[in-house]
Amino acid sequence: MSVTGLIGAEPIETASIDELRSLQLARMRNVLHHAYEHVPHIKKQFQAAGVHPDDLRGLEDIGNFPLTGKDDLRQNYPFGMFAEPMDRIVRIHASSGTTGKPTVVGYTRQDIETWSRLMARSIRAAGGRASDKIHVAYGYGLFTGGLGAHYGGEFLGAAVIPVSGGLTERQVQIINDFTPDIIMVTPSYMLAIADEFDRQGLDASKCSLRLGIFGAEPWGAGMRGELERRLGLQALDIYGLSEVMGPGVAQECADSKNALTIWEDHFYPEIIDPTSGAPVAEGEIGELVITTLTKQGMPVIRYRTRDLTRLLPSTTRPMRRIDRISGRSDDMLIIRGVNVFPSNIEAVLAKEESLASHYLLELRRPGSLDELDVIVETRASLAGKLGAAELATLERQAEHSIKVFVGVTTKVRVVEPGTLERSQGKAKRVLDLRPKD
Ligand code: DLL
Repeated sequence: MSVTGLIGAEPIETASIDELRSLQLARMRNVLHHAYEHVPHIKKQFQAAGVHPDDLRGLEDIGNFPLTGKDDLRQNYPFGMFAEPMDRIVRIHASSGTTGKPTVVGYTRQDIETWSRLMARSIRAAGGRASDKIHVAYGYGLFTGGLGAHYGGEFLGAAVIPVSGGLTERQVQIINDFTPDIIMVTPSYMLAIADEFDRQGLDASKCSLRLGIFGAEPWGAGMRGELERRLGLQALDIYGLSEVMGPGVAQECADSKNALTIWEDHFYPEIIDPTSGAPVAEGEIGELVITTLTKQGMPVIRYRTRDLTRLLPSTTRPMRRIDRISGRSDDMLIIRGVNVFPSNIEAVLAKEESLASHYLLELRRPGSLDELDVIVETRASLAGKLGAAELATLERQAEHSIKVFVGVTTKVRVVEPGTLERSQGKAKRVLDLRPKD
């Protein structure tokens, strides 16, 4: 067991599993009471399901309580799920989502402190220190990325540079002039910043950055390789969602790479079958469900994240880990009966040396069947270098690999670097051009 990642750790990070479980149980009892007594919608839900907070004897009893979904939040828009009066709320964030009204979340002063502490813990577990300068390029605003990273960095004692998203030329200038050690940004926007280095004729791999803490969207091993190679940094994954807190729910730690430690002293995880809602067998992939254990302003009980992952055993810390998120259950495309996640296609494209990680899936229905076009850029170094025949060969190879590994027939279009629109936050990977019926 390596202890290097635990330098400066909080006591709970080195506690025993039994200590963690009893803390969770005490906190879970509290949060169930708090939610039941202060959120009429939750009281109604519990009563309809015939459960009362006093029915919780052990942690596993949480499975008897009703699940919460985005719809519960939408029906109570904007503030109906708050468990504290407005004079105790000090911050409001919202998540737009793709359809309908945004979901709104409220934080008390203590919630902000907990969040800051957990973000500081996440940054430290990833290898960040008080002596570091942190460039925050997550968007500041209603999105939780910017302010979450900002408060966490300050709590750790690091020097935070609040750049926010956008103005890509200036991102490069600030990295060059302020020489940050750490960058926190979506992985897709990090790639766009790396492209801007190239465009300016600068070598990104020589920049000051040692560590990237990337999240807010799915990204796979291929993307990690590309980011680490092009920027000469170590790329670690951070997970979170606004309904549950924001970033800092789970973090890939420097001493436990390839899975994210879920901060179980504040979030109780379950994995369910997204269709039936029943728990999956231990270690199986399913939908992550989270109960917040300490949130005051807006506690959520058994919140359906829609994110697909599995629970993995703990390693250096007592908390369990989750696999990297492979996609969202509502991101799944069904192409002629085959279930396809954008991440499956991304993983295949990442294996092809000449292709970059900038891609877009276009879904259309010219007749009665759905068709999927995959548009992908070549690597920046190949700009203008490939002829029509070489591009066509690449396209046929990619179509073949996608057919073999994902099981679906697609039409691949390989395009010049810079053709696809760059996002400054979360990348949009799917364009649904099917007629609305
Ligand atoms: O994306 C919070 C966040 C900000 C996380 C910065 C990490 C870094 P929302 O806008 O509410 O909050 O979106 C949450 O984004 O349910 C996942 O589907 C996705 N997501 C977040 N982190 C990851 C990740 C923020 N590391 C939704 N890997 C979540 C894959 C992620 N998907």
